[in-house]
Formats: sequence, C-alpha cells, structure tokens
Amino acid sequence: MFEFAVFWDWMAFAVRWLHVITAIAWIGSSFYFIALDLGLNRDIPGPADGEEWQVHGGGFYHIQKYLVAPERMPDHLTWFKWESYATWLSGAALLMIVYWVGGELYLIDAQKADLALWQGILISAASLTIGWLIYDFLCKSGLGERPTLLMVLLFVLLVVMGWGYNQIFTGRAMMLHLGAFTATIMTANVFFIIMPNQRIVVDDLKNGRTPDPKYGKIAKLRSTHNNYLTLPVVFLMLSNHYPLAFATQYNWIIAALVFLMGVTIRHYFNTRHARAGDPTWTWLVTALLFIAIMWLSTAPMYKPLEEAEAQPLTAFEQKYAAADGFEQAHDVVLGRCSMCHAREPVWDGILWAPKGILLETQGDIARNAKQIYLQAGVSHAMPPANVTYMEPEDRAAIIRWFRNAGL
Ligand code: HEC
Repeated sequence: MFEFAVFWDWMAFAVRWLHVITAIAWIGSSFYFIALDLGLNRDIPGPADGEEWQVHGGGFYHIQKYLVAPERMPDHLTWFKWESYATWLSGAALLMIVYWVGGELYLIDAQKADLALWQGILISAASLTIGWLIYDFLCKSGLGERPTLLMVLLFVLLVVMGWGYNQIFTGRAMMLHLGAFTATIMTANVFFIIMPNQRIVVDDLKNGRTPDPKYGKIAKLRSTHNNYLTLPVVFLMLSNHYPLAFATQYNWIIAALVFLMGVTIRHYFNTRHARAGDPTWTWLVTALLFIAIMWLSTAPMYKPLEEAEAQPLTAFEQKYAAADGFEQAHDVVLGRCSMCHAREPVWDGILWAPKGILLETQGDIARNAKQIYLQAGVSHAMPPANVTYMEPEDRAAIIRWFRNAGL
C-alpha cells in the first residue's frame, strides 16, 4: 500500500497540524486575557478590581476581575493550562520527528561540528532543559525585583544561545532550537510557577485565608515575559520555511533583532489596550529592524560550489552514495532539479535554493535521498508542475536507488 517513509512524512504533517492548532489556542487565549486585563474599566463600585462589557457571537458578556477574594469561590472554575501544555508536548514531538529522527539532514552540520547523531540529540535535549534552569535561577535571584535588568539579561541569554546553536547545528535547526528554547521557558513558566501559585491562592481562598499577594506578583512577572516572547517564537518556528532567514552566517543576529521586534510590536498593543496612548513610533522601529534583517539575510549563504564538492562525504551520505543505482539517480537529479536547487540557481525567477534544499554535489544528493524519493519518486510534487519534464523512467531510477539503500 505505502511504506514507512510515506507514513512517517504524514505523521510529521499530522503532528504539525496539531501543534499549530494548540498554539493558536494558547496564544489566542493568552492575548485575549492580556488585552482584557489591560482594558478593564477600573472605576467601578464594589469589591471587583475591574470589569468590561463585550459583545461576541450574538451575546453580551459581562466580565469582572477579582484580584484576590471573590465573595465566595465559585463551584466551577475554568483553568487555562492545557493550551500551553498541549502546545509544548506536540512541539516536542515535532522536534523529535524532524530534528532527531531526521537529524542527519536537518540537525547536524558536519561542516560546523562533526557530531554523531546521538550527540546532536543530546545537545538538543539538554540545551532546552538547561535554558529553563538558568532562566528560573535568574528570576528567583534578587533580579526579580529589577524587572528591566532581568529582561535585558534574558535577551542576552537568548542571543548567546542563538550564537551557540549556530556553532554546531544547521541554520534551520539553530532558529528552531532557539524558538523551542524560548517556548520551553514559556510553558515551564505556566507549569512550574503560574499554575502552582494559582493553586495556592485558590486553596487559601477556599479555606478562608487571605492569600499572600507575592504569588500574584511572581506570576505577573513570568506572564509579562511570556507576553513579550510570543511573537518572536512564532517567527522562529516559521523561519525554517525561509532559507533567507536561516541560511546565513548572521542568522543568530537576525534572531536577536526578531526578539527586539517582539518587544516593539507588543509594546504598541499593550499600550493601546491599556488606553494609555498610541505609540506609533514602535512601528517605525519595527520597520527599521525588519529592514536590517532583510539586509543581513543577503550575506553569502553557502560555501562556494568548489568547496562543497571537495568536502569528503559523511558516513550518512556515504550510505546513499554507495547504494546501487546512485549514478543514474544522480544524473536524473542533475538534469531535472539542479537548475533550481543550486547555490546559484539558473532558473528564471528562482534566486536561491527553494527551502534551502541544495541538489548539486554528490554529497547534496546523497544527503537528501529521502526527500528526493518522497518529492520526486513516489509523489510528483517535484519538479513543480513537472517543468523539467521528468519521465517515468527518471522517477523509477530514483525509487530504485532509494530502495537499494535498504531503507
Ligand atoms: C523550477 C524549479 C524547481 C525544480 C526544477 C525543482 N524544484 Fe524542488 N522546489 C522548488 C520550489 C519553488 C520549492 C519550494 C516549494 C514550496 O515552497 O512549497 C521546492 C521544494 C523542494 C523540496 C522541499 C520540499 C519541502 O517542502 O520540504 C524538495 C525536497 C525538492 N524541492 C526536491 C526537488 C527534486 C528532487 C527535484 C528534481 C526532481 C526538484 N525539486 C526540482 C523548485 C524546483
């Protein structure tokens, strides 16, 4: 019917679908609550801290916020946590599918660091955990009292991590890991700090004690960080579809500027929602940052072709290059794919290798065996609209080669 490689690619799609949906739910509800909180009408009589009227989907909603003590704990209280947990869990699964199982292609860059796959995976997993530990330590140190300095240090930590990832991983893995690093901090904030504190407060209220306001303050600090980190994380997660963003030596500087854009954009909306003005200057700064990013992305992306050709094959590439039928498949790819998937494409309108997929050298072709097989062997996704006239025997040559490699 179909084989494992096809099944696995569809699994990746299914998990990605799930991940995007859960992320929409998480970001949607958190943006909603931030805007709600900032915009509450606080000039009201009675015990509530503030209230707002809203209209949506044909009904009117009257929302009131209580800081610590509603008169009576309601029987049913809706919590918001699974949006965050599900986003992290599905994201972790996707990271494993794409960057661990597919690590030879997407994670490891032998020209930066000649790691074995297991070493790459270990660094990937450990870095995400350690990031949270450092961040949490910083927040719990005296710095918690100096939020601006803390934010600056957090920014420095993110830039250093981005630089560090770029020393060992491929450009796309660098961007994605920096996103995952940040998103792990955000979910861990919910799981380890915000939720437990909320449970303490609810428990106090149920038992007639007055909760310590420090819990609210701590949660507020963490959720402010989450607020400013959200937009950059989404950018970093999407960046792997845009080689211009990740396939340059300056990708870590690009990531740093993206974190700044996250602050300028959120600042605009936070101010607006608090009805505290209309800081349009933030858009000017955002635009300038974006222009700087575009300019940085034009730095040379790849090693020149001669250098890449001289590069010895890695063990992973060797496995495919040694398989029966490689010669024919190699010729097919050179004849039908390389005009677009090149360091300097010659196809009209294609200015850089689509999706960063290079198919020029023996190493390129061997390394991308599975992708070639999936896109141009078992499916007809490539070349687009068959513009280079692949014949059935061309596809057969690719299929034969890939299956001979025994996978
Ligand atoms: C006319 C230019 C052109 C030719 C020729 C071409 N491709 Fe592509 N390829 C593209 C474009 C454009 C994309 C990006 C598609 C997108 O953004 O969805 C792409 C994407 C890909 C991807 C990445 C798919 C993904 O989304 O992960 C692979 C793998 C690929 N091509 C392999 C091949 C192979 C193998 C051949 C030859 C049999 C080939 N391409 C021929 C233009 C081309």
